[in-house]
Amino acid sequence: MVTPMSRRRVAVLISGRGSNMAALVEAAQAPDYPAEIALVVSNRAAAAGLKIAAAAGIATSVIDHSRYGTDREAFERDVQEVLDARGVELVCLAGFMRLLTPWFLGRWEGRLINIHPSLLPAFTGLDTHARALEAGVRIHGASVHFVTSELDGGPIIAQAAVPVLDTDTPDTLAARVLAAEHRIYPLALKLVAEGRVRIVEGRCFIDGAVAEGMLTVPSQIA
Ligand code: GRF
Repeated sequence: MVTPMSRRRVAVLISGRGSNMAALVEAAQAPDYPAEIALVVSNRAAAAGLKIAAAAGIATSVIDHSRYGTDREAFERDVQEVLDARGVELVCLAGFMRLLTPWFLGRWEGRLINIHPSLLPAFTGLDTHARALEAGVRIHGASVHFVTSELDGGPIIAQAAVPVLDTDTPDTLAARVLAAEHRIYPLALKLVAEGRVRIVEGRCFIDGAVAEGMLTVPSQIA
């Protein structure tokens, strides 16, 4: 049973729109969800997601990376300070546009997850939707994975597939994938918060059945 005491304290790191963060916040409003969003951190003061978080009554913090020049670790030490101050146990990256150093990655190993808009290991990096169209794939999607030093390369927790239509543009495809992202990120965080995900030799193994929420449904093919 989930009690307020047993909920994992989560920080979401954002840089912009914050729709995945909002999906996590919404999921965490359910009394039986095993995590609570304790803090939202943005490296950009103008991130629209900050307003969404504040409106939901969630503590926010802006740590502007540009003030640190090339010293990435100094930026991360200040991020770490706010995470510690809020007793954060798990970190979700959601459109957070900074590369993290080994210092930060080491501290959060196995407790730091990210959402990426492709079916990894295909299309790591940026512009995934345009590149999927260019490659002519018929299936595209999203992945939630643990963060390691390899860009978009850590163990995969959850994935959702969507069809690619002949009429798609990068924007229409992005919108279809985004809806899938909003389904699987809360699911993946739930699994991690419940301690149901084990990493063995770079691969995730999950206790219990988890197919629900990760399938392409016909209503999406519209
Ligand atoms: C999402 O597509 C996510 O997969 C990628 O960046 C985008 C962030 O969107 N990493 P939002 O800020 O969550 O709306």
